[in-house]
Amino acid sequence: MIFASNFKTNHTRKSTRDYLYRLQELTIKNNLFSKVYIFPPSTALDNFENIAFNIGTQNAYTTQNGAFTGEIGLEQLEEFDIKTILIGHSERREKLFETQDIVSSKFQFFKDQEFDIIYCVGEPIEIREKGDDAVIEYLLAQFEGIDTTYEKLTIAYEPIWAIGTGKSASIKDIENTHKALKKISNKPILYGGSVNAKNIEDIANIDSVDGVLVGSASLDADNFCEIIKNGLK
Ligand code: PGA
Repeated sequence: MIFASNFKTNHTRKSTRDYLYRLQELTIKNNLFSKVYIFPPSTALDNFENIAFNIGTQNAYTTQNGAFTGEIGLEQLEEFDIKTILIGHSERREKLFETQDIVSSKFQFFKDQEFDIIYCVGEPIEIREKGDDAVIEYLLAQFEGIDTTYEKLTIAYEPIWAIGTGKSASIKDIENTHKALKKISNKPILYGGSVNAKNIEDIANIDSVDGVLVGSASLDADNFCEIIKNGLK
């Protein structure tokens, strides 16, 4: 099982450091050995000595460096040896207007740099209400320009209506959608959208779920540790 935590615009430099060492202590104490990814805000990226987790960036621009006000590029990531990136998160698609063209060129750029990419897809509620076929058609469009065979790819299925709402997708919806996604790519598929310490067990028990991407419920290290503990399979 893969456990990924997306801090979004939460935590500071100091609280990120405290979080990582706390989580490290908890996972060692509880013998929880799994693949863990943490995505702190970019101001908190740093050299974290002896941390066993993979630290990734929530976003970056497709450049080494240059005149791209407000963005970070490879130069800033290389300083801290960051080789993992989230691409296509619905908040960037919806709130920051990243089109499929932008998302796919970002994918291509970071693929060329051999980054581990967690690539997010997910449908809005009006598509989910139309049923499974409409969902798959919508998700397929989010794979335009994406190399689904890229060896360092992990897919995250995150229905938009389940993100931050406290209402995760049903087991059946997750199962059906992941099954359909497995036909598109044989890479690991994470589920994201209101995952918490209570529902993780049922979600983790779904065959086609290879891990989870967690926002709100992962912001506290003890909570995230609980999720890892309950979700290991
Ligand atoms: P959530 O966020 O766990 O708060 O629903 C998930 C995500 O956006 O990755």
